[in-house]
Amino acid sequence: MSVSDKNRASHEQKEALVEDSIRFVWRHGVSATATRAVEGPVAVSGNGVRVTDIDGNEYLDALSGGSAAATLGHGRVDVADAVHAQMTRLHWVSLRTFINEPSIELGRRLAGLTDAGLQTSFFVSSGSEAVETATQLTKSYHRARGNPAKNTFLYRKTGYHGTTLVGASASDNAEFRTWFAPLAPGFVEVDACYPYRRPNGMSEEEYGEACAAALEATVLEVGPENIAGILAEAIPAALVLVPPANYLRRLREICDRYDILWIDDEVFIGVGRTGRWFGFQHFGVSPDIVTSSKGITGGYVPLGAAIASSRVMDTIFGDQAGGQAKVAGHTYAAHPTACAAGLAVLDAIEKEDLVGNAERVGEWMIDEFSRIYADHPNIGDVRGKGLLIGIELVQDATTREPFARDLAVGRKVMDRAMENHFMLRASGDVITLFPALVTTSADAAAMVTATCRAIDEVLGEL
Ligand SMILES: Cc1ncc(COP(=O)(O)O)c(C=O)c1O
Repeated sequence: MSVSDKNRASHEQKEALVEDSIRFVWRHGVSATATRAVEGPVAVSGNGVRVTDIDGNEYLDALSGGSAAATLGHGRVDVADAVHAQMTRLHWVSLRTFINEPSIELGRRLAGLTDAGLQTSFFVSSGSEAVETATQLTKSYHRARGNPAKNTFLYRKTGYHGTTLVGASASDNAEFRTWFAPLAPGFVEVDACYPYRRPNGMSEEEYGEACAAALEATVLEVGPENIAGILAEAIPAALVLVPPANYLRRLREICDRYDILWIDDEVFIGVGRTGRWFGFQHFGVSPDIVTSSKGITGGYVPLGAAIASSRVMDTIFGDQAGGQAKVAGHTYAAHPTACAAGLAVLDAIEKEDLVGNAERVGEWMIDEFSRIYADHPNIGDVRGKGLLIGIELVQDATTREPFARDLAVGRKVMDRAMENHFMLRASGDVITLFPALVTTSADAAAMVTATCRAIDEVLGEL
C-alpha cells in the first residue's frame, strides 16, 4: 500500500470513528456538526500538560483536560498504581453495608487541610451531586433547628452549579433554564460581584460593600425565615471574578445574622488551583459547607464531596427528634477506588508542593499577561488567583465597552487557539486559562505565548 493509500485508509477510519461517536455517545456542549467539522478531535493519550490526538497532533493543555479536572496533568503512574492496588484489593462495596478505609482516610485528610472547622465529607461522584447534597444537608440543618420553612436558596448571576435539576435551578444558564423547565422551586437569583464592571468612580471596597448591601436587601425581601442557604463560589470560576477583600467577610456576616448557611461551591477551584487548598482561604472567612470534585481526584476517577463544618454536623447529629438527617445516598457514595485515587492525589500535591507551585506559576502568568497587555486598547482586564486566570476582551479598554455580541470574539479566540493546538476557554469575551497544578515555568511561558498568539491573530482580523 502506498503512503497516500495508507493516509486515505486512516482518514476513513477516523471519519467512521467520528460518525460512530455522534451516533453512540451523547456529547455535551458541542454539536454534531462541529464534531464532524473538526473530526472530533479524537484524543488518544496524554502526558503532563499535553494531549495527543489520533493523528499524532499534540495539544498544549491550559484547561486541565478541558474542564479543570486534570489538576495533576495527564498520565500519572502513581495515581494509576494506587487505583490498581485498591481495585484488586477491594474495588467497591456499598456504604449502606460497609464502611471502607480509603473513604475514612480521605475524609480525615480533607478535614485537616484547613483550620476552617470543615469536618464531615459526603462523598458522591460529581460536582453536581456534591451541590445537590449540600442543599440537602442545609435543609437537614434547618429542620434540626426547628426551622423547616427555611428551604429557599440564593444563587448569583453568572454562577454555575451543575446540571442536576437543583444545579440547573441554581445556575444562571439561559439554555438550562429553558431546556430543563420547569425548574426546582425555591431558588432566587442575586447579583454577581463583578469588580471590573463596578460603577465608575467606585473603589473595590465600596463595591464589595454595595454588593453585600444588595444581597442583604434580597434576604430581607424574600424573608430570612424562608432562606436556607446561599450558593456562592469563593471565586466564581467561569468569569474569574476575584471579589474585593471585604465582600466575602460581609457575606459571612449576613449569613450569621440571619442563620443562612454559606455553601461555598469549590468544585472548580478547590484542592489547590488558586494557590490555596480552598479559595475561601484567601479571604479569612470560613463557609459552612464546601463542595469539591474535579481536583479531588485530578480527574483520574470521578469523585465529589460536600464537606460540612463541625457546627453544621453537631446540629444535624443532635437532631434526636427528627431521627436521621436525610441526605441522598448513591450506590457509588464513598467509592473505595475513587477515594484511593483521592488519597494518591493529595499525597502528590503535598509531596510536590503543587499548591505553592500553582501560586507561583499562576502569579507569573498573570504578571506576564498584565505586562504584555498593559496598554492594549482591547484588553480590559487581566485577573486571577493562582492557576485560574481571566483576560477580558473589550471594544474599548478606556470605556470598558464590550464587543458586540455577534462578533463572538471570545469564541473566535478559543477556536483559533484550538486550530493552533492550544486549549484555552472563552466565557463570552473573557478568555480563561486553568492549567494543571504541575505546570512548569517552561509550560507557563509556552501557554502565555500561545494565548497571546490566538488573541492577537483574532483581534488583528476584526
Ligand atoms: C462551580 C461548579 N459547580 C458544579 C459543577 C458541576 O460539576 P459536574 O460537572 O462534575 O457535575 C461545576 C462544573 O464545572 C462547577 O464548575
